[in-house]
Amino acid sequence: MLSAKKKLYKKKDYPVEDVRFYLEPSPAVLLTSQYKNERNVMTLGWYTIMEFTPSLIGCMISGSNHSFELIKKSRVCVINLPTVKLSHTVVDIGNCSGINIDKFDKFGLETEKGHKINAPLLVNCYANFECRLYDSKLVKDYNFFIFEIVKAHVATSPKYPKTIQYRGNSHFIDSGRNFKIPSLK
Ligand SMILES: Cc1cc2nc3c(=O)[nH]c(=O)nc-3n(C[C@H](O)[C@H](O)[C@H](O)COP(=O)(O)O)c2cc1C
Repeated sequence: MLSAKKKLYKKKDYPVEDVRFYLEPSPAVLLTSQYKNERNVMTLGWYTIMEFTPSLIGCMISGSNHSFELIKKSRVCVINLPTVKLSHTVVDIGNCSGINIDKFDKFGLETEKGHKINAPLLVNCYANFECRLYDSKLVKDYNFFIFEIVKAHVATSPKYPKTIQYRGNSHFIDSGRNFKIPSLK
């Protein structure tokens, strides 16, 4: 397995209204958060694209996760897109709590500051999407946060990253062949 520490990607600014190119297949992602001086990271598999402009995404973050408290208070987070090379780290991060440990140190995760929000980006991930809480109406009843992606950083290559999707109960799929079907007009 590749070390999570190694910096892998040269990134460029990316139009936030087009981020579904990377997130619509719903790959497992790493959610980073920060409130005051406390930061954390968790694995997230349950989310959905909700709108393109503004760029909205709905995420189910269980109230039992430490990240829930940090995000509820700070109202920001970063969605980081790991590739298959980091899959064991993705599972390990999703199987421990950051309440008593620093998962960034534990898993050797290199970070950069967010450009538009105060939360860390994982530089060894293929893409990073900076999010601000857009609507909290469903948090109380469903732990469902609606975020606006306000800044997107995407690697310049490869065009199609090999990501992983979570099927539950320790089963994953890696992203397969990519192809294009032009829309009929
Ligand atoms: C593959 C995978 C997907 C996960 N998806 C979610 C999710 O969508 N929502 C959620 O609340 N927890 C999810 N989890 C569980 C959290 O990542 C886990 O509870 C984590 O320990 C929370 O960390 P924290 O307490 O430091 O915030 C997932 C775990 C794994 C391994």
